[in-house]
Amino acid sequence: MRKADILLGLQWGDEGKGKMVDFLTPKYDIIARFQGGPNAGHTLEFEGQKYVLRSIPSGIFQGGKINLIGNGVVLDPVLFRKEAEELAQSGHQLHDCLYISKKAHLILPTHRLLDQANEAAKGKAKIGTTGKGIGPTYTDKISRNGLRVGDILDRFEEKYALAHQRHMEMIYSLNEAAVAKGGTPVSLDGLDSLEQEWMQAIDYLRQFRLIDSEHFVNKALAQDQTILCEGAQGSLLDVDFGSYPFVTSSNTICAGACTGLGIAPSRIGEVYGIFKAYCTRVGSGPFPTELFDETGKKIRDIGHEYGAVTGRERRCGWIDLVALRYTIMLNGVTQLLMMKSDVLDTFPVIKACTAYRINGELTRDFPFSIDENVEPVYEELPGWQTDLTHCTKQEELPQAFINYVNFLERELNTPIKIISVGPDREATIWRE
Ligand code: GDP
Ligand code: IMO
Ligand code: MG
Repeated sequence: MRKADILLGLQWGDEGKGKMVDFLTPKYDIIARFQGGPNAGHTLEFEGQKYVLRSIPSGIFQGGKINLIGNGVVLDPVLFRKEAEELAQSGHQLHDCLYISKKAHLILPTHRLLDQANEAAKGKAKIGTTGKGIGPTYTDKISRNGLRVGDILDRFEEKYALAHQRHMEMIYSLNEAAVAKGGTPVSLDGLDSLEQEWMQAIDYLRQFRLIDSEHFVNKALAQDQTILCEGAQGSLLDVDFGSYPFVTSSNTICAGACTGLGIAPSRIGEVYGIFKAYCTRVGSGPFPTELFDETGKKIRDIGHEYGAVTGRERRCGWIDLVALRYTIMLNGVTQLLMMKSDVLDTFPVIKACTAYRINGELTRDFPFSIDENVEPVYEELPGWQTDLTHCTKQEELPQAFINYVNFLERELNTPIKIISVGPDREATIWRE
C-alpha cells in the first residue's frame, strides 16, 4: 500500500504552499486539502497568469489530476461557487476533477456574523481573524452542532433552520453584551439576501461529486495511487501548538492530514516542510523576530507581503530557527522547501534567530509562551547581494547564498531540497 505525502507551512502561513503544491503536482495522482477553509489564500503563477485559491486544492492546473476537499476542511458554499465560477471562466472546469468530502463542515452566513461578534467582544485582544467564519464553524463541529456537506442531500431546510435559530440567539446575546459595554452590535442588515445567495450556492454545490472521501483516499492508496496532502495556514497557527490563542481553529500540523482525510499515521510518507527565507505574520499575536524598522519595511516591499485574502499588510521579520526547529519536530519533516530567497538579494547582512533569551536564560527550545519576555538571539551572515531570480540550477547559486543554506541545514538538521527564487512555477531549483 502506498503512503501519502504532505506539504505544509512551518511558519505563520503564506510560505508559498500554493506555488509548491502546483510545482509538485505532476508527481501525484490526487491532491487533497485537509483543513482550513477560505481563510487560506494560495497563490500560483505560471505562463504569465496568476491565480489565488482559497478552498480549492492547488493541483487543478496541471491537468488530469483529482483534487479533493477533505473532511477536515470548512467550506463556504458562496465563496466556493465564486472561486469555481471564476476558474471556469478562465477555462478551468472543475466538475470532473474536483471531489468534495460529505463530512466537510459548512460555513453558514451566521458563522461569519459570529466571527465578527466574537472579535468585537475581544476588543483590543482580538485575534485579527480573516472574518470568514472559521472559528465559529469549527466550534460548531467540535460542539456537535455543525452542518456537513452530506447534510445537503436530505431534509436540509429543516437542519438549516435549527442552526440558524441557534446562531441568531447567540448573536442577539453577544450584541446585548456589546451594547452594555458601549460597543457596536453586529448588524443583521442584508442577512436575508445573504442566506438566499447561500441557498443558491448549496444548489450549485450539489452539482459536484460529493463523496465518502476517507474510503476514496484509502482505496486510492491501496491501488498504488499517489496522494499529496495540501496544508493551509502554518504550524505556528495550529490550534494546539501555535501561539495560542492567536491561532486558527484547526490542526495545521501533519496530524491534521490524518484526521482531515482519514489517513492512518502509518500511511504518511514524505513530509515537505515549507518556509520563507525570513518570516511573516498576519493578524495579532506574538512574533519574536518582528522588525519595526526600515529593514522590515524593505522585506515587505520587496516580498510584496500583503495578504492574498484580506490585502492586510503582513508583519515581517528575520527567520526564527527556534520556531522552525519546533515545527519540524511536530511535523516529522523529511525535507525542507525554502521560499522567497530572492527577496533577500539586496541585503548586505542576513540575520537568523538561533536562540531565545528569556529572563536572562538562553534557550533553543520553543517555550510555552512567546510573549514580550522573549528576546531573539541572532547570528549574522553575509548577504549574497546577487540577483537570484536568474538562477535556474544549483550550480548558478552564489557561494554566500549556499553558505546560508548550509547554515540553515545544520541548524535545522533537515535537508533543504528545493529553493524558490521567484513566484513563477519555473523559478524553482532542485538541490541534489
Ligand atoms: P501560501 O498561502 O502558502 O500559498 O502563500 P501565499 O500565496 O499567501 O503567499 C506567498 C506569496 O509569495 C505569493 O504572492 C507567491 O506568488 C509569492 N512567492 C512564492 N514563492 C516565491 C519566491 O520564491 N519568491 C518571490 N519573490 N515570491 C514568491
Ligand atoms: P494560508 O493558507 C496567514 C491567520 C489570521 C489570524 C488567525 C486566525 O494562506 O497560509 P482565522 O480566520 O483562521 O480564524 O484567523 O490566523 N490566518 C492566516 N495567516 N495565512 C493564512 O492562510 C491564514 N489563515 C488564517 O490572519 O491571525
Ligand atoms: Mg496565503
